[in-house]
Amino acid sequence: MAEKFNAVKGTKDILPDDSSRWQTLEQTTHEFMNRWGYGEIRTPAFERTELFTRSVGEESDIVSKQMYTFLDQSETSITLKPELTAPVMRAYLEHNLDRGGALTKLYYIDALFRQERPQKGRLRQFHQFGAEAVGSPYPEQDVEIIALAFSLMEAMGVANPLLQLNSIGSRECRQRFRNALVEFLAPHSGDLSETSRQRLETNPLRILDTKDEGERAILKDAPRILDFLDDTDREHYEAVKVGLDTLGISYEQNDLLVRGLDYYSQTTFEITSDALGAQNALCGGGRYDDLLEELGGKPTPAVGFAAGMERILLAIPEESAADSVETLKVFVITAGEKAGTAVMKTTMNLRANGIPADFDTLNRSVKAQMREANRQDATHIVVIGEEELASGTCQVKDLATGKQQSVPFKELFKHLTSV
Ligand code: HAM
Repeated sequence: MAEKFNAVKGTKDILPDDSSRWQTLEQTTHEFMNRWGYGEIRTPAFERTELFTRSVGEESDIVSKQMYTFLDQSETSITLKPELTAPVMRAYLEHNLDRGGALTKLYYIDALFRQERPQKGRLRQFHQFGAEAVGSPYPEQDVEIIALAFSLMEAMGVANPLLQLNSIGSRECRQRFRNALVEFLAPHSGDLSETSRQRLETNPLRILDTKDEGERAILKDAPRILDFLDDTDREHYEAVKVGLDTLGISYEQNDLLVRGLDYYSQTTFEITSDALGAQNALCGGGRYDDLLEELGGKPTPAVGFAAGMERILLAIPEESAADSVETLKVFVITAGEKAGTAVMKTTMNLRANGIPADFDTLNRSVKAQMREANRQDATHIVVIGEEELASGTCQVKDLATGKQQSVPFKELFKHLTSV
């Protein structure tokens, strides 16, 4: 026999038994986004590599080691998208979605690719939903985005979502903070891990993310980014906090939260859950006021978030994502050769009228068809045999109550929907 294939490491199939949970997350996302005034955008699976190097940053983990990058036939460097903010902003500029300076609110549900070390909640192909609000520099917009992310987590059934909030200020303030941090950490460099020592040279702010206990202890006395904010940044941050208080959304101030992508300025946030292990961030986002200009547009403020769908599914109980509503499901049974066509027609009619229905195409015995109806969790079976054909009726059995009755074909739909 020929060799069989398995899915590539770090990728997963979503099988029919799981897909209803995915559909529920997707439906909730579409409903919320429509209600909140966000329009859906879908971008291609790959982009020119430079889009990500310029936006996410050369020194970020994503660009420096996680991208799936290859040369296409015309020797153009192409990358499977590792995140969506940059592609969505590329599309925003390309299609002039600014609508003459008005606010543009976009959302997406998509698959992303990052060559990370696979573990629970960390895959090489994973899925996000997210939203980007482009055009407003005001704290009200940060608050709306955070409230949207938070409400979605709650609606999806995440228990105790924890919002962590920070401000990393403007580029200038970050530069001053960076210098101070390097100055503070340099004498400790012997006690830092190999990775952090490297980051001290390339991207010192990322050291703040460390999970290493020893490094965390050193960082306790490190300079704080909040002390480097200028008045404008500070006022903005205070207004975001007041807005969240008004909406009753509680948060934890975490001044180590700098995020791993270079495009952020001012507000950054994450929503975490203790239902997850090491990869506890369900959702991350923030303001990125410099990005559109870096991508060739005019200066345009923007703020957004994205949430990892695999992680949300890990953080909610099995039932809460599944459709718990008892729905009608009919299995139409063929009792006798001649009934075949009538069974098929009846099934198609039920489906055309919006009722989930199925029938046997394996030529099985009535008993085996009954077993199949049970396997499919049918709520009703409809039996059609030669007798029924002759009398223009069928036998309908409610599998919950066991009640069985003879129903004229014409009245089948009415009968099923009235019970
Ligand atoms: P991010 O923090 O890189 O941000 O990703 C957002 C979320 O995607 C994470 O919190 C996590 O739940 C999920 N995620 C990331 N990597 C993986 C992985 N390898 N496997 C499974 N889940 C993963 C961004 O992507 C930004 N574009 C968010 C944003 C939008 N900022 C502004 N607008």
